[in-house]
Amino acid sequence: MLIASLKPRTMGGTTNTGLLAYALARAGHPVTCYDADESLQLAAWARDAGDFPCEVHEADTPAFAEVVYPEMNHDRINVVDAGHAENHPDIVDSILEVVDLVLLTLSPTNPDYERLTKPERGTPLAKVIKRSAALRESGQPPTTNVLLNRCQ
Ligand SMILES: Nc1ncnc2c1ncn2[C@@H]1O[C@H](COP(=O)(O)OP(=O)(O)O)[C@@H](O)[C@H]1O
Ligand SMILES: [Mg+2]
Repeated sequence: MLIASLKPRTMGGTTNTGLLAYALARAGHPVTCYDADESLQLAAWARDAGDFPCEVHEADTPAFAEVVYPEMNHDRINVVDAGHAENHPDIVDSILEVVDLVLLTLSPTNPDYERLTKPERGTPLAKVIKRSAALRESGQPPTTNVLLNRCQ
């Protein structure tokens, strides 16, 4: 399966991706990570941690669905960390074509909630997720859970 960590902008997404992958691997699940953020912070974290229990592959490409996804071992739990959806909509669109489950990290503030639902500029991430249905095999958008994070 493929789990994607998404967020409109910086929200603690990479931290959540790393901790989720770490917890799943330590619980005995086969986990592989993909870093689809060009800042490659998950890859750097895994390298610097020394004991990070999963491989992290660089995957910051808008051809994620066509190039990265078909090469995955789908019997494993694959976890992809995406960059800021506001800045890299092409990569996020491609991930949304093939992902099974979205974990969307959001700081529980009104301005950040509005980035998801009603930004001053650009397409709301909630709408980006809904319209991905048109390109998905199921014809449905992926199941999406919002994780409120960085509470003040
Ligand atoms: N739950 C949290 N509470 C406080 N700070 C956090 C939390 N999660 C992440 N951070 C901090 O927020 C900053 C951005 O986190 P990061 O995971 O890199 O975000 P993103 O990948 O969404 O840009 C980092 O300094 C990180 O340590
Ligand atoms: Mg990040």
